[in-house]
Amino acid sequence: MEYKYLGRTKERISAIGIGTWQLDLNEKAAHEIVCSGVDNGINLIDTAEIYGTEGIVGKVLDRIGRDDIHVASKVWPNHFHYQDLIDACNGSLKRLGIKQIWLYQLHYPNYTVPIEDTMSALEHLQKEGKIRHIGVSNFSAKELEDAQAALNHGEVVSNQVEYSILMREHEEDGLVDYCKRNNITLIAYSPLGEGQLYERRNAALLSGLDAIGEPHGKTGTQVALNWLISKKPVVAIPKASSAKHMAENAGAATFNLTEGAIGKVDELSKGFSKRPLMGRHVRKLLKHTTFWHGIAARRYGQDQ
Ligand SMILES: NC(=O)c1ccc[n+]([C@@H]2O[C@H](COP(=O)([O-])OP(=O)(O)OC[C@H]3O[C@@H](n4cnc5c(N)ncnc54)[C@H](OP(=O)(O)O)[C@@H]3O)[C@@H](O)[C@H]2O)c1
Repeated sequence: MEYKYLGRTKERISAIGIGTWQLDLNEKAAHEIVCSGVDNGINLIDTAEIYGTEGIVGKVLDRIGRDDIHVASKVWPNHFHYQDLIDACNGSLKRLGIKQIWLYQLHYPNYTVPIEDTMSALEHLQKEGKIRHIGVSNFSAKELEDAQAALNHGEVVSNQVEYSILMREHEEDGLVDYCKRNNITLIAYSPLGEGQLYERRNAALLSGLDAIGEPHGKTGTQVALNWLISKKPVVAIPKASSAKHMAENAGAATFNLTEGAIGKVDELSKGFSKRPLMGRHVRKLLKHTTFWHGIAARRYGQDQ
C-alpha cells in the first residue's frame, strides 16, 4: 500500500481510503468490507453526518479494535454557525463512539454563514482535541484560500472533491495544481464515477483500461484508481459493497503506472465523461441558499 502525507503534516494516509456514502449495510457485511480494506493496508475511512453511516463505522472500528485507522467525517452546511457546528461535532463523536475525529471536513461551502464563524468553531474543536485536522470538501481554490485566511493558526490540510477519469473538471479549473503547489491533500471522491465506469456506454473505456493494466497484472478499475493517485496530492476513496471490490480497490495502490501508461490513460479518457449530478451553475447557486437545511430535513425528517 502506498501512503501519502496529509497536507503538510507528518501523518500518513493510505493512497486508497474507504468511502461510506450509501453503504447501507448490516454490521457484519460492513465489518467484512472494512476488514478487507484494513488487511490490505488502508488506514482512512470517510463518512459524514449526512450519510447516516457514522454509527456503523463506529461499531465496525470498535469491533476491529485498532486505533490507527483514521476517521474522516464531515459537517453538513446547515450546521456552519459556531454553536451548531460544535453541537454537530459532538453528535458525530457520539455516533462514531470515539473521542477525536481525525479529519473533520466542511461538506460544502455555505455563503449564508460568515466563514470566520465556521472556522473559529473548527479551531475551538481542534484546541479541545475533539478534531485533529481541519479539511474542506467541494471548495474551489478561492474558497479554500478564504477558509484558510479565516483561521488564526490552524491549517486546512485537505479538500475532498469529485475527481475521476470521467470527471476531470478540477484539472481544467486548476484545483489539482493548486493543491499540489500548496501541499494540500486532494481527496478524490466518486473516483469510479459513482459506478458509471461500469455502464455499457463506457465499455470501450473500461476495456482499454483493462488492456493497460494487463502487463501489470492489474484490472481496469485498478488502473483508473492508480491514474488518480499517481498525481502527487491525490488520494482516492472509492466505495465498495463487497470485500472483493474493496480488496481490488486497495490493490490499486501497490504498483506504479509508467509515464507512458499514464499518457495512454489520458488519451483513452478523451470522449468519455460522467453524467453530473448537477451542473456547475446549479452548484454555484446552491452555495447562496438554505437548500442544505431542506436536504437535512428530508434525510432526518426534521430540520436539525
Ligand atoms: N464530499 C462529497 O460531497 C462526496 C460526494 C460523493 C461521494 N463522497 C465520498 O466518496 C465515496 C465514493 O464515491 P461514490 O460512492 O459516489 O462512488 P465511487 O466510489 O466512484 O463508485 C462506487 C460504485 O463503484 C462500484 N465499485 C467499487 N469498487 C468496484 C470494483 N472494484 N469493481 C467494480 N465496481 C466497483 C460500487 O459497486 P458496489 O457498491 O457494488 O461495490 C459502486 O457502484 C463515497 O462513499 C463518499 O465517502 C463524497
